[in-house]
Amino acid sequence: MKAEILSLLRETENYISGQELCERFQVTRTAVWKVINGLKKEGYEIEAVQNRGYRLVSQPDMFGKAELESRIRTKWAGRHIAFYESVGSTNAAAKLLAEEDAPAGTLVVAESQTAGRGRRGRGWVSPPGHNLYFTLLLRPEIDPDKASMLTLVMALAVKEAVEEAYGAQAGIKWPNDIVLNSKKVTGILTEMSLQGEYIQHVVIGVGINVKKQEFAPELAEKATSLEAELGHPISRALLLEKVMERFEEDYALFLEKQDLSLLLAAYNAALVNCDRQVKVLDPAGEYVGTARGINEKGELLVLDSGNKLKKIYAGEVSVRGIYGYV
Ligand code: BTN
Repeated sequence: MKAEILSLLRETENYISGQELCERFQVTRTAVWKVINGLKKEGYEIEAVQNRGYRLVSQPDMFGKAELESRIRTKWAGRHIAFYESVGSTNAAAKLLAEEDAPAGTLVVAESQTAGRGRRGRGWVSPPGHNLYFTLLLRPEIDPDKASMLTLVMALAVKEAVEEAYGAQAGIKWPNDIVLNSKKVTGILTEMSLQGEYIQHVVIGVGINVKKQEFAPELAEKATSLEAELGHPISRALLLEKVMERFEEDYALFLEKQDLSLLLAAYNAALVNCDRQVKVLDPAGEYVGTARGINEKGELLVLDSGNKLKKIYAGEVSVRGIYGYV
């Protein structure tokens, strides 16, 4: 009821009467008053005027379960939320929930992580108050070979969400880093659990650097945050709401063809590596070539120095710009 009341307050410019809220939720005036009081304690400024009702005067940059539930109005993505003030890793928590039969679309969100996981066995530093750390649980009925493409679907959804919420043009560094001004603002880690030959679940974990912050010296050169680059405040709740909306749409397009063909044009338009020289860090030997975009499987097409078009699969190989990260 808390999330619904919050959502109604947000949607209504004028006052909502206590009576209306009582009738809508079939509860007493005291119960409504308690919810309003709880919201006030959390920082929402709500005016209560006799004979008129309640009005949301201001909503500071709130971030919590009720705020997210009141915003996310998708069909399934993010409609069940597990929110933690602190958790080891939202990916690990999502996997546990998946084992307990949590439905597809369950969204695990944390204010901070104590054991955030990055790609290639690295960690993901996750202090409170600054960033977004979340994991979406999926149960796709697709061939396990195709699951790695989901990371690219999420990358595109995050890029589109930043644009929709704030009008900013972020880019994608293949396969799944979101970049602004050539620096990384988002990392994505997808993990899959199989039962025999079938996918039991997939968890897609996303870390977005939101507020201005100091990065460790080894990251400072290539990491940044949305606020540092865009120069204005960013609401984590609004951004997450938009990511869920965009992902739900893009995922439907992915499932329709079981590949990225319907998302290819949008992804390639965002690809910062496109038509640029890249260094391919192939375990079998590094080489330099020109990136030509991805194909429908999410492989990066690179024209090598001998004019041979190579297809690079993200699991094995990573790419860098020849002068740096992008
Ligand atoms: C990368 O190395 O670029 C991927 C980083 C992914 C970090 C996110 S934060 C939320 C989710 N939970 C984790 O433990 N990792 C991912």
